[in-house]
Amino acid sequence: MQITNSAVGRKLLMAITGQLMVLFVIVHMLGNSSIFLGANGINAYAKHLHDLPPLVWAFRFSMLAFILVHAWFGIQVSVENSAATPKKYSVQKHLRATLSSKSMIWTGVIIALFVIYHLLHFTVHAIPGVVTGVDAIGRFDVYTMVVNAFQSGLVPVIYIAAMIAVFLHLSHGVGSFFQTLGWNNANTLPKISNTSRGFSFVLLLGYIAIPVVILAGILK
Ligand code: HEM
Repeated sequence: MQITNSAVGRKLLMAITGQLMVLFVIVHMLGNSSIFLGANGINAYAKHLHDLPPLVWAFRFSMLAFILVHAWFGIQVSVENSAATPKKYSVQKHLRATLSSKSMIWTGVIIALFVIYHLLHFTVHAIPGVVTGVDAIGRFDVYTMVVNAFQSGLVPVIYIAAMIAVFLHLSHGVGSFFQTLGWNNANTLPKISNTSRGFSFVLLLGYIAIPVVILAGILK
């Protein structure tokens, strides 16, 4: 039987692709934090990455494949779950359901829309107002682009809202991985849920620190 024919197989594919994307989200947060070292920090980091085009493109194609697989099966699982939930003649109860577990499909859609916007903004530079240029030693000036984007207006609000969606999605998603692999039991479940939430919160703080520090005028 093909892995995609069973609900467990589909969940497994979602879990694996999800965790691979979580690895990216961790590395991206750490890489972005080089902005706190100033223009030289983040511009040097971005230059090192772009100096390895085969790696950049291998990464992009892999991420695209993970997103498509994860979203495709995510939509299927969500449709299957809502078809299996009795809606009529019964009071709907969500056992151990939290805001983050009930909103997975919606936070997933928000993140997908954000990633499209984010790529158009900082990678393709197609969003009006984005500042592009080079620094004193000819490297692409990521620092000025990011600081300029987050100084005022709607852009920092969009980013902070998207980071909250990422937090909610991962709060439930990271813990589900262990559930899908059958690594949880009554004892470990609360610990897994709390660790998942704590880990996602650290990511949230790491990401929103950038727009917040820029809005506060600390990085300029
Ligand atoms: C404050 C939050 C964030 C900042 C400041 C930020 C910054 C950036 C910058 C500057 C780039 C372009 C890098 C370059 O071309 O040199 C980039 C690319 C990217 N970011 Fe973010 N990012 C943030 C959050 C996120 C989040 C939450 C995700 C995913 C959920 C994400 C996904 C990506 C992806 C997929 C790319 C494209 C990488 C490529 O060029 O192939 N970013 N980001």
